[in-house]
Amino acid sequence: MSTTSETTPKPDPRTCPLHEVDTFDPAFLQDPHPFYARLRKDAPVFRDPKNNVVYVSTYDLIREVNSRPNLFSNKFATQLRSGSTTEQDPEELAIQKEGWTVVDTMLTADPPEHTRYRKLAMKAFTYKRVMQMSGYVEKLVNQLIDDMPDSGKCEFKSEFANKLPMFVIADALGVPREHYDQFEEWSNAFIIQLGGVSPKEQRLWASRKIVEFQKYFVDVIEQKRANPTEDVISDLVHADLSEEGDDRKMTYEELLSILQQLLVAGNETTAHTTTAGLYYLLTHPEQMQRLRDDPSLTENFVEETLRYLSPTNNMWRVATEDTEIAGVAIKKDDLILVRYGSGNRDETHFKDANAFDLSRENAKEHLAFGAGIHTCLGAQLARKEMQTAFPILLKRLKNIRLDPDNNDLQYLPSILLRGVFALNIEYEKA
Ligand code: HEM
Repeated sequence: MSTTSETTPKPDPRTCPLHEVDTFDPAFLQDPHPFYARLRKDAPVFRDPKNNVVYVSTYDLIREVNSRPNLFSNKFATQLRSGSTTEQDPEELAIQKEGWTVVDTMLTADPPEHTRYRKLAMKAFTYKRVMQMSGYVEKLVNQLIDDMPDSGKCEFKSEFANKLPMFVIADALGVPREHYDQFEEWSNAFIIQLGGVSPKEQRLWASRKIVEFQKYFVDVIEQKRANPTEDVISDLVHADLSEEGDDRKMTYEELLSILQQLLVAGNETTAHTTTAGLYYLLTHPEQMQRLRDDPSLTENFVEETLRYLSPTNNMWRVATEDTEIAGVAIKKDDLILVRYGSGNRDETHFKDANAFDLSRENAKEHLAFGAGIHTCLGAQLARKEMQTAFPILLKRLKNIRLDPDNNDLQYLPSILLRGVFALNIEYEKA
């Protein structure tokens, strides 16, 4: 989507007119916050003339949009599959045709379908079920720390932060952890598709990987249909939609859609938050010491990390009819980006919003898990993983520090997700 050539100097997003900022440019995506601040101040509802997308950037307006799902729909599967506002590339489309055409289930569905699928998937991640996982998550965290290099040097995201949610979701779904490398690749493929700014070659690779993912899970679905086990896939395969007013079981297309959301939504976002949390502690040593001294601060620290990073930085909505937001006219079918990352830095809601403060009183009011009927289904699980991980990490890794020779943090080039590729650290294992 970048509209500026590599050689032309790009306008400075901190000072140039708002309409000149290329918000799909990977360089811009390294630090969108100065632009978000300008949007909140000068144009909280801003129609970008370059792509006709409407950006909603303040805390209150985001909540307002999310509270009207009849007007602002989640039927944005095309944007997710093409990663942008543009038409899909024919080569990409041809590869996708070799697989299954995923249908709209939770994230990309509206009521009443949304309600029906969400109710089924929700059973797997209820608060009660997640609370019962404490001992299991603790054990897993300890195992992952055992496996961290004894040399005292590692890339934290790939060695720890990616693995924790991936292993948890693999175990919950009932697929072998040994297939981790494949899950990683598939997850990356979805991220590239969602990101919207990757080069074509990468996007074609991603489409091929997604078809591979579908074939793998169709096999698993068939196995679980024949021989149910105690796991989420077996539950979903055998769930009776008749209870929900429809006399049938779910199709491959429906099941694949749900599984894809559990795999991607759950992993990358949690991995990014865990990595960011450690980074914020490393760059705020006094707060790291407070957390070491008083682990009861962990819960709030996790909420503040979610607020500050906002790993799902933006999300699409589609207007279902002509309407307005804060006096700005919206036309039917207009694409809207609710900018959670901006809402979470809104000074009118969070005092001194650009500061990281693990004891912020209203940290938990963040929009990192969204708001309204699509509020994250895995929020309790993600919280449980991070609330368990940090006290153990801080106890078992002494003198954690950034690797001084290798820490040029690069953020993912994605319009929807936010997080760094890698965080190199040094430590001594206790
Ligand atoms: C730090 C971790 C996570 C963050 C920040 C996050 C963020 C979000 C956000 C912002 C939404 C709302 C999207 C919208 O506004 O349309 C969402 C929805 C969703 N999340 Fe998460 N998520 C996380 C972890 C997880 C986990 C662990 C799972 C699965 C186990 C999960 C599954 C889902 C699903 C299925 C939806 C769609 C819900 C619906 O449409 O009703 N997420 N997530």
